[in-house]
Amino acid sequence: MASISTVTTYTLRKAVAARVRTDLVVIGVATGKGGALEPAPGAESVAEAYGRGFAPLLASLGFQGGPGETVRFPTDDRVNAAQLLVVGLGDRDGLTTEKVRRAAGTAARTVGNVATVTLALPAVDAAHVRAVVEGFASGLYSFEAFRSKPRKGGVAEVVVLSDGARRTDVVAALDAAVSLSTLTAQARDWVNTPPNALVPTVFAKEIEKLGRKTKVGYELLSAAQLKKLGCGGILGVGQGSANPPCLVKLTWEPEGATGSVALVGKGITFDSGGLTIKPGGSMSAMKSDMAGAAAVVAAVHAVAALELPVAVTAYVPIAENMVSGASMRPGDVLTMHSGRTVEVTNTDAEGRLILADALTMAARSAPDVIVEVSTLTGPCVVALGDRIAGLFGDDATVAEVEQVAEITGELFWHLPIPEEQRRSVRTESKVADLLQHNWVRWGSALYAAAFLEQFVEGVPWAHFDIAGPSFNTGGPWGHVPSGGTGFAISTLVEIVRQRGLD
Ligand code: BES
Ligand code: MN
Ligand code: ZN
Repeated sequence: MASISTVTTYTLRKAVAARVRTDLVVIGVATGKGGALEPAPGAESVAEAYGRGFAPLLASLGFQGGPGETVRFPTDDRVNAAQLLVVGLGDRDGLTTEKVRRAAGTAARTVGNVATVTLALPAVDAAHVRAVVEGFASGLYSFEAFRSKPRKGGVAEVVVLSDGARRTDVVAALDAAVSLSTLTAQARDWVNTPPNALVPTVFAKEIEKLGRKTKVGYELLSAAQLKKLGCGGILGVGQGSANPPCLVKLTWEPEGATGSVALVGKGITFDSGGLTIKPGGSMSAMKSDMAGAAAVVAAVHAVAALELPVAVTAYVPIAENMVSGASMRPGDVLTMHSGRTVEVTNTDAEGRLILADALTMAARSAPDVIVEVSTLTGPCVVALGDRIAGLFGDDATVAEVEQVAEITGELFWHLPIPEEQRRSVRTESKVADLLQHNWVRWGSALYAAAFLEQFVEGVPWAHFDIAGPSFNTGGPWGHVPSGGTGFAISTLVEIVRQRGLD
């Protein structure tokens, strides 16, 4: 199911941009005082080759140096590259890795059909090299698997210029960025795959295939096995579908591990809402309701590829939420893997039901921390928009995630779990131990988090509500394509990396 028609190779070089022979050289231009255009680090030699006329030339082409802007022209032998692509970086102060990642992504979406590209973007240190490669690879992504005539083309060879090209930390950053980008593309492919082609057992098989020839352990729990384990949440949600549910467990167990992290990801391959059916418009992107599962699977594999010294186990409940004579009904009571009972009031709040069983499994393996990732609630998107994830959990874990997200550039916003919502979850069912959903519209993303919290058994935890940023229903921007984005993968991997450093 690979979607990138050309395999792109990335190599590092220490060279002067103006002298490199290549089809296209990419440089960054930032803005200084009064909006003056200034070559960013890496672009100096090209600017010099054009002399004083460089900024006026760019200005005459309407280029102002802002983020998202590009301008491209033949070099007429002013430099050795055939063409020049200039990408805006905005304010020259604070050329953060995230700005560079977005600019590299923007550049990638503009390169078209050239075979070799040289990136002379601000690759001043390992972190910036990583941002250049991640951004460019991310921007090149396109999903072609389901076109009868895949769009051809793609860049074969990318050379990344950096003064640190021979430093071991810079080389490692490039390798890490390539692994992460490959796995991000895999996660996006799964999210973009139509729901008829990625029913639960097929998704599980795809995950198994990805693990072949790696050191990541794979275990599949079938619906029958989940029944023996009393996983009423996963089975309840899956019972209305002709495609049975399952749970995949992935393990990365390095020798002498310095700690353990459990990941949990929501794997609803399609969310119709069930009997509490969604209106058509809300259903149309619901193939993406397994983006949390795709993210945690990609993250475990990236951790393994990087051989990080922390044990990671992913629990991935997978089901299809459908309408049929066998569907779970509002009013049903489910007995969960934890042994507690839940009164279902809204079959469209299915995510928390499958996650509850997986969280119990994760918690009972006694990890140092649980990080759970899910496209859980539309209300979270209403609150934060579609580029920012909701972040819930205990204070220490939330603070850790916020710190790590500064490095990865992914946007999270901490939301509370109010006492009132906890009380409602625990006391407002008239028949069962817990109430799944209380039909109060206000703050219902928080209610969902309060419900999940009931299943972590006191283990430190974080919940990412990625309903917004996991799937881009609009046009591409920066390094983010339309459709599946791969949101959360880099933050998950960085959490594990940081834990491996202590
Ligand atoms: N999968 C949806 C959440 C979702 C909405 C993801 C929009 C991506 C984009 C989830 O299962 C759901 O239906 N949630 C309910 C939450 C409600 C019951 C509090 C929703 O969004 O209406
Ligand atoms: Mn739903
Ligand atoms: Zn859902």
